[in-house]
Amino acid sequence: MNDTIKLLMEHSSIRKYADTPLTSDQLHTIIAAGQQASTSSNMQAYSIIRITDKTIRQELMKLSGQQQHVEEAPEFLVWCADLSRIHHATIGAKLIAPNDHLELAEHFIIAAVDAALAAQNSAVAAESMGLGILYVGGIRNHIHQVAELLQLPRYVAPLFGMCIGYPLEQPILRPRLPIAAVLHENHYTSNDSHVAQYNDRMAAYVFDRSGGRQQFNWSEAMAKRLEGKQRDDVLTFLHKQNLLKK
Ligand SMILES: Cc1cc2nc3c(=O)[nH]c(=O)nc-3n(C[C@H](O)[C@H](O)[C@H](O)COP(=O)(O)O)c2cc1C
Repeated sequence: MNDTIKLLMEHSSIRKYADTPLTSDQLHTIIAAGQQASTSSNMQAYSIIRITDKTIRQELMKLSGQQQHVEEAPEFLVWCADLSRIHHATIGAKLIAPNDHLELAEHFIIAAVDAALAAQNSAVAAESMGLGILYVGGIRNHIHQVAELLQLPRYVAPLFGMCIGYPLEQPILRPRLPIAAVLHENHYTSNDSHVAQYNDRMAAYVFDRSGGRQQFNWSEAMAKRLEGKQRDDVLTFLHKQNLLKK
């Protein structure tokens, strides 16, 4: 196993951070490493908003379901799908006639994938420096308010936040599904035995990690997730931003 693979295999989300700030060099490198990720047709259809204002941080913490790490982590970045820059550079600059292409689902997928690839490159860069990270999808709990708070223009949508800082915890690694459950050959195949096997591993993991206080398996956790709040205003929000309209 080389050092890169070892780093990837040791990933664990961090929810408790030391106060130690990142240096501006560290932050710069983390963002530059993110930017070097593959990007669809070099569109680079994402933006990152670094939240340094304490009031905005606190507001985001509340809007994300009272996740304390959002307020406490030394850095908090909001990763956005961003087709606004391309709109300005093309239609805005009158290089092409106004059209509705950026409203297509295809372009939203491009922007969301670009943002996720850049974010994951940044996450790995941060982890390679001994920092910990946490993705925060909780910012979509109140997506309209978050966009308003961050003054996002049309064609821009917040996807997830990211806490970064030195870890104050070393969680037990969360087991993943067996490779055979996610890797198919030539055709899609279903095999419930992989899930059954994983349910046993996850139940043991949850029991250990909670010091015996919790006991549920993966299927049960997923069922709970699907029954909970569904962020059902996301589509209305995306339409308002001129995204994902057709
Ligand atoms: C897009 C995305 C959003 C997430 N949102 C949250 C979140 O709001 N709060 C949280 O505590 N964890 C969040 N997570 C972390 C996942 O729960 C975590 O990555 C997963 O359970 C696997 O655990 P691990 O990262 O420790 O291996 C998010 C992860 C991703 C990829």
